[in-house]
Amino acid sequence: MATERRTALITGGMGGLGQAIARVLHDAGHTVLVTHSPGNSRADAWLQGQAAAGYEFQAYGVDIADKASCRELGHKLRTAGHHVDILVNNGGITRDVTFRKMSEDDWDAVLRANLDSVFNVTRQVINDMTERHWGRIVNISSINGNKGQFGQTNYCAAKAGMHGFTMALAQEVANKGITVNTVSPGYLDTRMVAAVPRDVLESQIIARIPVGRLGRPEEVAALVGFICSEEAAFMTGSNVSMNGGQHMH
Ligand code: CAA
Repeated sequence: MATERRTALITGGMGGLGQAIARVLHDAGHTVLVTHSPGNSRADAWLQGQAAAGYEFQAYGVDIADKASCRELGHKLRTAGHHVDILVNNGGITRDVTFRKMSEDDWDAVLRANLDSVFNVTRQVINDMTERHWGRIVNISSINGNKGQFGQTNYCAAKAGMHGFTMALAQEVANKGITVNTVSPGYLDTRMVAAVPRDVLESQIIARIPVGRLGRPEEVAALVGFICSEEAAFMTGSNVSMNGGQHMH
């Protein structure tokens, strides 16, 4: 099937998984826009490094947890003449702590960055996709949104919520040529996972992954690439796991 050049927007595009997804979609011939947190001092160096490796990305500083910041992003995209066909809601944070010690701020920050962000960013692109009668939305959830995880009531609630959003929106836009899917990665070799205390990671996490190692961001990015392709038009509302066998359902 012929591949058209599309425009893709990836939130959290400078993170380990975000960068791998950006590269896969660039390799597929698409124009790739990434977001990063406002004022991220690494942005220019990151863009230069990507360009040196043959990846021309455009970057936007936006607080995906903030509605006004996302409205401004939508305005900037339209002003620049971008019509986003592919949205990957990938940006997110963790604030791991047991529930009894969790502050209101730990809860709010994680729900806003991981779940409200899906609402905030998707609304900036959904009308365009509907009018153009083509779209791919991929929500990057987590194994922990499916199975729960000690120390992550906030993150698990947000990640499980993402798939509820996926299933509802998938039904609303299926007849508009837009698919909406969730991808639930397991523990990957990224900065987010590296923040887990080493002993916990080794004794409680890697020890329970049948494949015996962390996943590579590129492995999950290849799956996202397929979901964003023309060939995946019949796939919508699904929640696809890739976790080395750590959780089977
Ligand atoms: N199951 C049951 N009990 C556990 C446990 C577990 N998994 N982990 C710790 N405990 C117990 C300890 O044995 C200890 O018990 P005692 O008090 O009886 O000795 C108690 O819980 C410790 O509780 P604390 O509140 O003192 O917790 P802590 O300060 O030691 O740290 C934690 C708790 C922050 C949750 C830490 O265990 C941790 O970071 N765990 C990993 C969480 C995790 O997997 N995060 C994933 C981040 S990556 C990501 O999210 C990406 C993705 O999508 C996969």
